Amino acid sequence: MGKKIVIDPITRIEGHLRVEVEVDDNGVVEEAYVSGQLFRGIEIILKDRDPRDAGLLAGRICGVCTNSHFRGAVEAVESAYSIEIPKNAEIIRDLIAMALFIQDHVVHFYHLHLLDFVDVISALKAVPSKTTKEAHRYSDKPFRNSHTHYEELLEKLGKFVKAGRLGPFSNGYWGHSEYKLTPEQNLLLLSHYFEALEFQRYISKAIAIFGGKTPHPQSLVVGGVTSVADMLNVGRLNDYIFTIKRAKEFIDRAYLPDMKLLCIARRDDIKAGIGRANGNFLSVGGYDFDKTQRVFCSGVIYRHQFDKIYEFDETKITEEVDRAWYKENRPFYTDLNIDGTLKTAKNSDKYSWVKAPRYNGNTMETGPLARVLISYLKENRLIKTFVDEFLNDTNLELIDLSTTVGRNASRAIETGYICEYIFKLVSRLAQNIKYYDLDTCAKYNFNSLPKETKGRSFLEVPRGILSHFINIENQKIKNYSVIAPTTWNATPKDLSGARGAYEEALIGVKLEDSSKPLEVLKVIHSFDPCLACAVHIIDTKGNDLSKYKI
Ligand code: NI
Repeated sequence: MGKKIVIDPITRIEGHLRVEVEVDDNGVVEEAYVSGQLFRGIEIILKDRDPRDAGLLAGRICGVCTNSHFRGAVEAVESAYSIEIPKNAEIIRDLIAMALFIQDHVVHFYHLHLLDFVDVISALKAVPSKTTKEAHRYSDKPFRNSHTHYEELLEKLGKFVKAGRLGPFSNGYWGHSEYKLTPEQNLLLLSHYFEALEFQRYISKAIAIFGGKTPHPQSLVVGGVTSVADMLNVGRLNDYIFTIKRAKEFIDRAYLPDMKLLCIARRDDIKAGIGRANGNFLSVGGYDFDKTQRVFCSGVIYRHQFDKIYEFDETKITEEVDRAWYKENRPFYTDLNIDGTLKTAKNSDKYSWVKAPRYNGNTMETGPLARVLISYLKENRLIKTFVDEFLNDTNLELIDLSTTVGRNASRAIETGYICEYIFKLVSRLAQNIKYYDLDTCAKYNFNSLPKETKGRSFLEVPRGILSHFINIENQKIKNYSVIAPTTWNATPKDLSGARGAYEEALIGVKLEDSSKPLEVLKVIHSFDPCLACAVHIIDTKGNDLSKYKI
């Protein structure tokens, strides 16, 4: 008889996620339910506020994606009032966003996901001289690749283990048969885990140069940005460029080579399609270099049909709440039995705080994999060389990216590509300044703007498509709604039973040991879940969403 395995909470993500899988006698996943476990309700706080405050408040939706929501909200308000922002403001917003992509992707791989692939205890058996050699298989100039560096790292790790103080590495499933890297490969990746901590520190600086600070940047306003002094300060611009160049070193010499290592070492998983979802991909594109070129293309792919890319059409987006804890769009929690114990998800039950967005009636995957596939297939010549080179070096095909490991590879490819082209954005800014275009904010008189209006914004952010919707009445926010990337990927089923990307990607995954479900963690982590972002409520009629007594 098969059994049910519940993992709650899934750790090393932002927010609270529960995963339930039903496995057959051989440990193969037959059905999956993913459940957002935290009610949010920032929309309630936004009601009746001045629309100009929407950005500052919406930025608090998440502790990681602060800049994304800040910008999403500000641009939704700008869309409502038809405010066009100056070119410089757009570039500065893009420079902040692009630095955030780089930070998010590197932090995700090394600090949130790596230990699903790397066995810390096995790394202790590595031979330093063999490790330096291994590193040269994936890069001509591997990052900090010296004998002494690996020896010092081994000594440090050995001390931790002997003292029984593994710190962040305690409670791992060390020794699990699912760990397949050699001791040298484990040590090499672990070395970069530590280097990435330093990376995390200085790349934050790049975001803060124009954002004022990070997280929760301060420089975005309805109409543009306030970073005028930063823009005109050559030192600040040079600091930004210097930091990105430093980041690029790590990405070219550690992150991308590590991803090649992983793709080669886990080739069997990739070819078996482990972690593949249903092949429906969505991207809204964005980040223009000039009139003809942009970082990401928009488009839609259904069921891995790579020969047919459809145009994105926002009117095809709908939202269901049949299987989510809402009734008539009010919170309606049903997950407790009469005795107070927690129910497990069943076929007809509601089981998540995450709503169910659909595109043209379909569940969709959004994020780096969707962006890379759509941009590549739409002949975005900027990204094409990056994808071709990566696939060539790892002897993989495009379809192979649609897997757990491939999803990570797409994220790394995208990071390398952004790093290279971010300098184009900087030179555009420098060009504008040179020709005395110094505007950073549109001029408008708030009191003469329309009293009643609606707006929305669509942005590609590190985890995928982010959309904000705003409804303004008497110059106050009447209704607010957000669909975040994780809302798409972690969607519950609807009444038709169609699975979302997380759930579909888990089907067919084989667990070696149901008490150590490492295989499930790996699939889920590959999407880079952000559950704090994912949960949102909507009330199209403008009713009270809920009342609180204190
Ligand atoms: Ni988030």
